[in-house]
Amino acid sequence: MSDPCQPEPSFRSIVVIDGPAGAGKSTVAKGLAKKLGVAFMDTGAMYRALTVKAIRRRVKLDDEPALAALAAETRIELVNEPGKALKVLLDGEDVSEAIRSVEVTNTTFYVARAAAVRHIMVAWQRQMGQQQALVGEGRDLGTVVFPQAEFKFYLDADFAVRCQRRIDELRAKGQAVDEAALKKDLADRDQKDFTRKVGPLKKAEDAVLIDSTRMSADQVIEALAQRIQNKK
Ligand code: C5P
Repeated sequence: MSDPCQPEPSFRSIVVIDGPAGAGKSTVAKGLAKKLGVAFMDTGAMYRALTVKAIRRRVKLDDEPALAALAAETRIELVNEPGKALKVLLDGEDVSEAIRSVEVTNTTFYVARAAAVRHIMVAWQRQMGQQQALVGEGRDLGTVVFPQAEFKFYLDADFAVRCQRRIDELRAKGQAVDEAALKKDLADRDQKDFTRKVGPLKKAEDAVLIDSTRMSADQVIEALAQRIQNKK
């Protein structure tokens, strides 16, 4: 993930940002990583990438042992290149676009609820954290993956605002949006995230709660950067 030609980052820690879908985690984590000069780790992208492979291979999505076997023979890489969007490689293929389809978004919960798959994903994520300083975002980073992280944040926002952000995001990409369906999908994803038996979405006790309902992404990035600066 790191580029040997880049200067050493001045910051050598792990920052984690957990929270529900649409809270702005990706934008904030990406912006904060850039500001700190470290890698950005999008863990949702990893679960999504494995889902792409499972769909292509026609693996039954409720067959947990088959999903775990698939994960064990898969290589997922997150490539951080200066000034570019994060690239997600699935066995060497760039799937950065494919992982964002509605089908993948709505079926990734199968992969994410499989305990044996999570075990493998968590190991990969810890390995990335051992190799470099990073800002990671997901659901279980502060509770399961990096319980010892130096900086833990839980980013939340009102449901209506999270829906609107998703709608704006899709429209900005030129996609038609069925608002009622999107709201239902987001509510379903929340429910699945909060009630999953393994690695559910949960604020770590020592995570700082940031409510971004009335904040822009830049304001959130600034707020997190300040907290990090003050604690260093
Ligand atoms: O964050 P994003 O929406 O890309 O995550 C895709 C899916 O992966 C989510 O539905 C979430 O349930 C799951 N996920 C997870 N654990 C993480 C990150 C994402 O279960 N650490």
